[in-house]
Amino acid sequence: MMFSETSHNGAILIVDDNPTNLEVLSHTLNAAGFEVGVALDGETALEQIEYYDADLIILDVMMPGIDGFETCKRLKANPATSEIPVIFATALSDPDNKVTGLSLGAVDYITKPFQHEEVLARVQIHLKLSRLDKNLKEQNSLLQQEVEQRRVAEGLLKQLNDELEQRVHNRTFELSQALQELEKTQVQLIHNEKMSSLGRLVAGIAHEINNPVNFIYGNLTYANEYNEELLTLIKLCQTNFTNLPSEIQYYLQEIDFEYLQEDLPKLLSSMKIGAERISEIVQSLRNFSRLDEALKKTVNIHEGIESTLLILQEQLKGRASKSGIQVIKEYGELPPIECYAGQLNQVFMNLLANAIDAIEEKNSLPLLGNKEYKPTIWICTEISNEDWVTIKIADNGPGIPVDVQSKIFDPFFTTKAVGEGTGLGLSISHQIIVEKHQGQLSCYSEIGKGTEFIINLPFKVQSEPKFQVLAQSSV
Ligand SMILES: Nc1ncnc2c1ncn2[C@@H]1O[C@H](COP(=O)(O)OP(=O)(O)OP(=O)(O)O)[C@@H](O)[C@H]1O
Ligand SMILES: [Mg+2]
Repeated sequence: MMFSETSHNGAILIVDDNPTNLEVLSHTLNAAGFEVGVALDGETALEQIEYYDADLIILDVMMPGIDGFETCKRLKANPATSEIPVIFATALSDPDNKVTGLSLGAVDYITKPFQHEEVLARVQIHLKLSRLDKNLKEQNSLLQQEVEQRRVAEGLLKQLNDELEQRVHNRTFELSQALQELEKTQVQLIHNEKMSSLGRLVAGIAHEINNPVNFIYGNLTYANEYNEELLTLIKLCQTNFTNLPSEIQYYLQEIDFEYLQEDLPKLLSSMKIGAERISEIVQSLRNFSRLDEALKKTVNIHEGIESTLLILQEQLKGRASKSGIQVIKEYGELPPIECYAGQLNQVFMNLLANAIDAIEEKNSLPLLGNKEYKPTIWICTEISNEDWVTIKIADNGPGIPVDVQSKIFDPFFTTKAVGEGTGLGLSISHQIIVEKHQGQLSCYSEIGKGTEFIINLPFKVQSEPKFQVLAQSSV
């Protein structure tokens, strides 16, 4: 293939096996200022089009070797040449060929014998269209590139933004965590101090009383024995010496020996009961402060409640002017519970002390016709389901207003006068039950009726919590 003369109008390849046709077309196109290349068959055209830049191809249909249709098919199948517009040259009487050509991707057809003006007009219009198309495609691709670049940039920006937001979120979370931890530690420290001084006091008293009580109790048995022996001795003297010296007889009367020998064993026995009672109290005090156990232990919950009630006994009895508080207990059959017993006792202490305070508050109000008011605390324990226990502590105090209910577990929240309440009892109880024992602590209250706190505890503490909520209140 060769192109004749240089021109600016475009390069056109004419493929035709008929030299006359070639010549006619070449001449027409050359004259109109086109560069013209020629090929005598399809194969040659396909080989050479790879190296020469044709802007348009005029393709004869009937050719030896591969025909115009096949040539067109191959041109369209090759990405390097698929965009070059193809115009078929076909006989006027051949409508089928025209349709086939167009369906194979040709843009137009010209009919033989060629009409100069028609050929030129069609060639020019298709070159123009092809250039416009090319231009459009280039611009489109540039635009697409730009869109893609923007999309990438936007993606990057969004990613950076997301990362930044995530970092802000993380940092805020960390800070609020740290703040919460700090608040918790503060609360723990203050409460620990409060509870540990109480625990220390209780433990100290228990220890101091324990020893003397033990030797009183221990010696009472001997005292009883010696007493019986001495009384027997005196009786023996009385029976064996009918005439006792008057001094002795006088003294026996003076001390009312008959009454003494009757009363002394009773007295010793009540001393024994008293000593036993002191021992029990000491045991309860030790139980409350749980001196010996810093770790979890399997205990009888009722013992803890009883010890706490014992410590609060004075307050439960009430002041002389007021009636005491009756405590109604409904203890269920509970298995031993594995827990941090000392801390659980602190919870009982906090809840019962609150109940007493609440009742005191109601009691201190003018009676307003509620002469029937009987201050009461209910303590109920039961197995709630397979491996949980429920402990309910309720009072018929004044109840808690709804807007206050949402705050009672907050550290330092108190409605009590300055110096009377630290506002830590419930927040620390919540921590002990929820965090330390993986249990639940909830409050139900109605104004005028009273308040009920419900503790739900698993039989067994699931796992060690992340940190020690409270140091044991022991010495
Ligand atoms: N049984 C109850 N009846 C009525 N109000 C209660 C009861 N229990 C708690 N409250 C309310 O909840 C508040 C918080 O109780 P919490 O035990 O945390 O602190 P406090 O008793 O005020 O002080 P602290 O226990 O540290 O001495 C109390 O001030 C009281 O207003
Ligand atoms: Mg309290």
